[in-house]
Amino acid sequence: ETLLNEITSYKANSPEELEAYRMRFISKKSVVGELFAEMRNVPNEEKKAFGQKINSVKQAAEDKFQELIEAVGQNGKSQKSTDIDLTLPATTLPVGGIHPLTATRQRIIEIFERIGFNLSEGPEIEDDWHNFTALNFPENHPAREMQDTFFLEKNPDIALRTHTSSVQVRVMENQKPPIRTLSPGRVFRNEAISARAHCIFHQVEGLYVDRNVGFADLKQTLYHFAKEMFGKNTQVRFRPSYFPFTEPSAEIDISCQLCKGEGCNVCKGTGWVEIGGSGMVDPNVLENCGIDSEEFTGFAFGMGIERIAMLKYQIKDLRLFTENDIRFLRQFKPLI
Ligand code: PHE
Repeated sequence: ETLLNEITSYKANSPEELEAYRMRFISKKSVVGELFAEMRNVPNEEKKAFGQKINSVKQAAEDKFQELIEAVGQNGKSQKSTDIDLTLPATTLPVGGIHPLTATRQRIIEIFERIGFNLSEGPEIEDDWHNFTALNFPENHPAREMQDTFFLEKNPDIALRTHTSSVQVRVMENQKPPIRTLSPGRVFRNEAISARAHCIFHQVEGLYVDRNVGFADLKQTLYHFAKEMFGKNTQVRFRPSYFPFTEPSAEIDISCQLCKGEGCNVCKGTGWVEIGGSGMVDPNVLENCGIDSEEFTGFAFGMGIERIAMLKYQIKDLRLFTENDIRFLRQFKPLI
């Protein structure tokens, strides 16, 4: 009875009071809710009468609630349509940006797609054959240590791929030349994390196998890429190098985009920065993949996507890419 009285005489003049009412009489933990819980302790013969009573209290509470909602609604200012100022600018929804690595990867793909490269992908967990042996790394050869590998299993060796050259092996095993393919992907090396290196990073490797492919084709392809990516005044330099899977091999340098040749920390005053490796596919690799090396030749190159993004957007610390600092990421919004 007292409860019923309290309910019917309740007055709510504000949304807060309405909420207080809801908490007291409607919600699961309300006094009415507690009465329902009481049901368990009521002797069987009284259950029916008790049930009817609390049901009527519940009903009354709900009816009153509807009444109060309407009353408060009419008082509540925000409900009046005249109070909405339709000339105010709309509230904008936050839009996500594109991660600089994604944008860089997309741009690289776009440049190579236009000159006839398709895309290929492969697994991040690789066997020894695809990551090393097919690529002409002899067993127990020190070249295997050029890439500090994360091994997962021994005999036969299973590892996280150290480069996406493994994808190119898979493509050559499954397709006949002409092959023009680009393999972007994540790679793993057991390296200390610093401003310039990470144990997880991204590469994009290219492979071109056909009749009469020569070093001049490799050079022109990479010239074209560098100018498209960094602007037409970019210079490219090839430095002799060594990779087990290419012969001859060359390191690819471009003129430093940060100091424009003046000398800075990134190029260490030399005016040049390395963006990747390249070379003519070693005939042993072609043969390992079932391609006749008398008939076909090819070139390959591999570049770090982080390095390219750093040069393009003048980013001085590679760790920023993975720290998810929203202030860093926000700066790339206009890329959408
Ligand atoms: N796979 C090499 C690396 O990861 C790069 C490379 C690719 C070099 C193709 C030559 C040819 O270091």
